Formats: sequence, C-alpha cells, structure tokens
Amino acid sequence: MTEDAGDGSLTEITEGKTSVLVPSGNLASDHGPGTKESGASFFNPAMEQNRDLSVLMTAVEVQRRLEVGMTRAPISYLDGLSASGIRGIRMDLEANLVEELPLEILCNDWDLNSFHLILKNIEHSGAQNTFATNENLSMLMLDHRFDMVDVDPFGTPVPFIDAAVRAVKDHGILSVTATDTAALCGASVKACDRKYHARPVKTAMCHETAIRILAGYVQRIAGTHERALTPILSYSSDHFVRVYFRVRKGAGRSDEVLGGQGLIAFDSDVEWKLVDQGFQQGSAKKGIAGPMWLGPLHDKAMLKRIHDMLQEEQWQYLGAHKVLSQLVERMLVEVDLGPLFYETNELARHFSTSPVGMDVIKEQLEKEGFLFCRASIDPNGFRTDATLDVLEKIYMADPTQK
Ligand SMILES: C[S@@+](CC[C@H](N)C(=O)[O-])C[C@H]1O[C@@H](n2cnc3c(N)ncnc32)[C@H](O)[C@@H]1O
Repeated sequence: MTEDAGDGSLTEITEGKTSVLVPSGNLASDHGPGTKESGASFFNPAMEQNRDLSVLMTAVEVQRRLEVGMTRAPISYLDGLSASGIRGIRMDLEANLVEELPLEILCNDWDLNSFHLILKNIEHSGAQNTFATNENLSMLMLDHRFDMVDVDPFGTPVPFIDAAVRAVKDHGILSVTATDTAALCGASVKACDRKYHARPVKTAMCHETAIRILAGYVQRIAGTHERALTPILSYSSDHFVRVYFRVRKGAGRSDEVLGGQGLIAFDSDVEWKLVDQGFQQGSAKKGIAGPMWLGPLHDKAMLKRIHDMLQEEQWQYLGAHKVLSQLVERMLVEVDLGPLFYETNELARHFSTSPVGMDVIKEQLEKEGFLFCRASIDPNGFRTDATLDVLEKIYMADPTQK
C-alpha cells in the first residue's frame, strides 16, 4: 500500500506483527545506518533485528516484574527518538501480553513530520496504549519518569545521557544506541575523547571496546546522579553498538559499578592486559584504551529468559528469530568469561601462519581443559581462558597447516 502524505509518499511495511507507514524512499537499504530523505521521517529496515530484540527484552521485563511482585501498573515505556513510531508501537502490539500489567507507550519525536507520522501510525496499526509527543527529548526526560527508556539517535547519544539516566525509575531499564562507531571504535580518537572522555584503540576487538567505552561513559554520568547502571545485554553490528542497562538508585551501588571500570593496554591485536596500578606508562605498544566498563556485558538471568522465550512457538514469527537465537546462545556462554576475545585471522597473522578452523580450536582447547565459546560480537572471534602460548601451540600443530 502506498499513499501520499503531503510530505512524500508512504509505504506500508510489516515488521513482526506490526504494520506501519514509512517514507517510501527509505526502504532501499537492508543493511547499514539507513537513509533519510530531506523533509521525510526516518526509517531503517536494517534495524528489524534490533527492534525484535527490544520486543523480547520488553516482554521479558513484564514477565520478570510479574514474577517478583513489581505489579505497579502500567509499565511506562518511552520511545524517545521515535521517527515513524515503529519501535514503540511494536512494544504495544507485541510485548503487551499481560492484562494485569499493561505497557503504556509514549513515542516522542521533535521533528514535526515524524510526530504526524507517529499519530498516523498509531491509528493505522490499531495500537491502543500508545501516545505521541512532539518535544525535545532532553526536556521531556527532565520533567517525566518512566520504567523503560529507549534512546536511539542519529550518531552519538551523548547529548541525551544526563537526562536519560535520571528519567528511568529505580529498577527500570535504559537502552542506548550509538552509531558513531568511527569515534567509539578508534578511527577518530579525538572525537571519542571529546564525547565519551575515553580513548579508543583500533584493534580487531574494537566493537567490544566500543560497547565498553559507551557503557563506561553512561555509568560515569549516572554516577553524578547517584545511580548505578549495569549492562544487562549488549551487542554491536557494523554501524552501531547498543547497550541495555538495569538502573538502580544509590551512591553505594553507583560506587560499586564505577569500581568495575578500568583501562586495557594493547601491545597488538591479540596481546592485551588490564592496566593495574603498577603499570608503566608507555609500555603498551599499540596504546591504552579506556576508561571503560570491564564487567559482564549481559545479565545471565535476563538472557536465560530471552533464550527460553525464543524456544516458544509464539515467538517464531519474529523476522530475526534465527539470528537472535544464535546470538543469545553465544551470549549465554560468553557471559561467564572475562572481557575481550581472539580473532582467528589476527592470531594467524600474529603467529605468521594460516587461520585455524573454529572447530579445531574448540576441540583442542576443551581437550586441555580450557573454556571456549564463540564471541557474540564477531563471527571470527572466540573467548577462552587459555593464554597465547596455548593458542600458539594449537596454531602451529594444526594438521591442516602442513
Ligand atoms: C535514528 S532516528 C530514530 C529511529 C527509530 N528509533 C526507529 O527505530 O526507527 C532519530 C530520530 O530522533 C529525532 N530527534 C533528533 N533530535 C531530537 C530531539 N532532541 N528530541 C526529540 N527527537 C529528536 C529525529 O527527528 C529522528 O526521527
């Protein structure tokens, strides 16, 4: 279906169980950061997986609250930078499943065309518990409190963080996307320093350090308001990183979270160590990254709930079901291991040999009693508690190299 909205033509799309109208010119890209026609609202079809995960996370949070007796209703959800309204409307139509604990969604966008499109989409989709506002998000978040807040900007989320950490109620969830990966991953060191008050180092693991730098920044801003923000699920793709945080109030809790930040010294793409107090400045050949969050990237209990949900018949309809099932399975294993991973091609370069298959690495490591899991962040990455010496032996002994 296509219609003319006065500000350009709109096309109906269906994502999950939700049908909305989006600007026709934005439908071309199925990967990358998306495009925005001048004057039109924004929609990126490549973010379906990202929105599918939001639906699951929200449904899991409703279920969790019910189980622990947090039954104050409704659960308020702010889709703060909403564009077409698709994320918020999907929460209403797909995650609003418990009658006694309903979700109430607010879709906000400062752009007038987007606001009108949200209103149109609320009607078009049949969402009953979704409302729209046309405000500057920072101002809106200073005046109102929500159980869940989503911040999904063009580029950096930094201008919204101070208000966002205060806008989430105790025990709530803040989700933050950043698409300025050039800064966070280390292609633009000065931009990262300026925005996130942290130094990136460009390595094969830079998407993980990007997540950790973003998390660290959000936690430090939250600390100034005596709030403790702990990552409960984090992931990245080529053009964005995204972290969901559990928000708790309290100076003591905040101090504890901030104690989990630190620096990582890189000698190469495979050699790194956490910087401790006795560290000699200048001894890291490739550079020192941070400050950043060094603790777990996910919460195991929340992951387990999402994992179990994905097994159920009722969630098979999600467009990204298969990809998300694999992602969550990897996350469930990696959550028990410490920061950073090895990338198979970088290891081969380091040992001046050819890459070794992931199956061979897994088999050899597990035979010797080491832990192994594939990294959720990189298809060629794996995490282990084995040292580089052990990996070198595996690489040099691999019969496929002979
Ligand atoms: C990347 S888009 C959001 C995409 C949307 N979350 C989705 O899943 O399709 C960012 C939106 O933020 C809006 N925006 C930018 N600055 C804003 C502000 N200060 N307050 C409210 N909205 C703003 C833009 O108009 C744009 O629609």
